[in-house]
Amino acid sequence: MEARLRTEGLVRRFRGETVVDGIDLAVAPGKVTCLLGPSGCGKSTTLRIIAGVDRQDAGCVWLNGEVVSDDTRHLPPEARGVGLMFQDFALFPHLTVAQNVAFGLPKRQAAGARVAELLAKVDLTGYDDKHPHELSGGEQQRVALARALAPRPRVMLMDEPFSGLDNRLRDGIRDATLAVLKEEGTAVLLVTHEPDEAMRMADEIALMRGGKIVQQAAPYNIYNAPIDPAAAAFFSDINKLSGVVHGALTQTPFGQFLAPGVPDGTAVDIIFRPQHVRIDFDRQGRGPNPTASDGAPARGVVQRARFMGKESLVEFLMDDGVSVVTATVPAVFLPKEGTILWLSIRRDRCFVFPR
Ligand SMILES: Nc1ncnc2c1ncn2[C@@H]1O[C@H](COP(=O)(O)OP(=O)(O)OP(=O)(O)O)[C@@H](O)[C@H]1O
Ligand SMILES: [Mg+2]
Repeated sequence: MEARLRTEGLVRRFRGETVVDGIDLAVAPGKVTCLLGPSGCGKSTTLRIIAGVDRQDAGCVWLNGEVVSDDTRHLPPEARGVGLMFQDFALFPHLTVAQNVAFGLPKRQAAGARVAELLAKVDLTGYDDKHPHELSGGEQQRVALARALAPRPRVMLMDEPFSGLDNRLRDGIRDATLAVLKEEGTAVLLVTHEPDEAMRMADEIALMRGGKIVQQAAPYNIYNAPIDPAAAAFFSDINKLSGVVHGALTQTPFGQFLAPGVPDGTAVDIIFRPQHVRIDFDRQGRGPNPTASDGAPARGVVQRARFMGKESLVEFLMDDGVSVVTATVPAVFLPKEGTILWLSIRRDRCFVFPR
């Protein structure tokens, strides 16, 4: 499907420093792409360029198949037909809910039906005549969403729109927002620095670092096939074992790992998530049998176990005396310090990276 929003080679410099460094993006109708990355990596700057409130030093922005900004052309934000929703989404305090939602609609248009439709979608039917100060934070957020959607933007740009809300409110509003955007077939570019939010909302995550997109993929793929250790570490705690390559293999407490194409003598890190460590009981000095999917088990001694609510985080010192491995286990199981257990890791969830 034709992308609603596309950028090519966006570059932005401030005082000689490149903060957006060649950003290529494409978002199709009804799809959500999340720009995810640490503070200062250039997410908001990218979004502001697409919105037209800032201008790139190089590169091109297309909206609905049309160039809206390049070296020679630069449409102002109001001519781009995009919906904007930012963290400080400020409603007009002197206007009612209905007037706020109708604000972006052409004056001539009979707004009543569209306003009612949108208030129903964000579950605020009957709130028409209230003023913003009479609403909770979450209700205000939903009015802001309805207002942004009212003119039927085909592209919605959102910059940390949920960050002002408390956790419990946020989940519900994220889901409601997503449902409305999908229903309207809007192409969405959502900026966030929270991996959980990106995983929850995105069809595709564009992971940014230092002004560049370092990896772009569906949440499942980016989580399970990170491009480098930093990309892996961005989504959860990680375990790191170190090894040295001999004959395209590296030795670890969990047996050998393939390191195809890595020259002999190269130091490598074997990275895996605590979620992908399986633990098993000690049977008189023996663990479970090796399997193709879980490799060879290795013995470890519990150093520390922390109760985290849904799950426990258990830290092991492995038999080699140096490797430390953390595993998440269901919280019903909180082993004592000194307990001997056997660990195995899903082979397809381990990543070998040259150091
Ligand atoms: N108008 C400006 N003038 C000078 N520097 C700027 C300007 N706008 C942004 N920057 C710098 O560009 C870099 C990227 O900023 P940006 O706001 O895009 O980051 P971000 O990824 O959105 O971060 P955060 O998650 O903290 O919002 C930062 O180092 C910032 O200080
Ligand atoms: Mg920002």
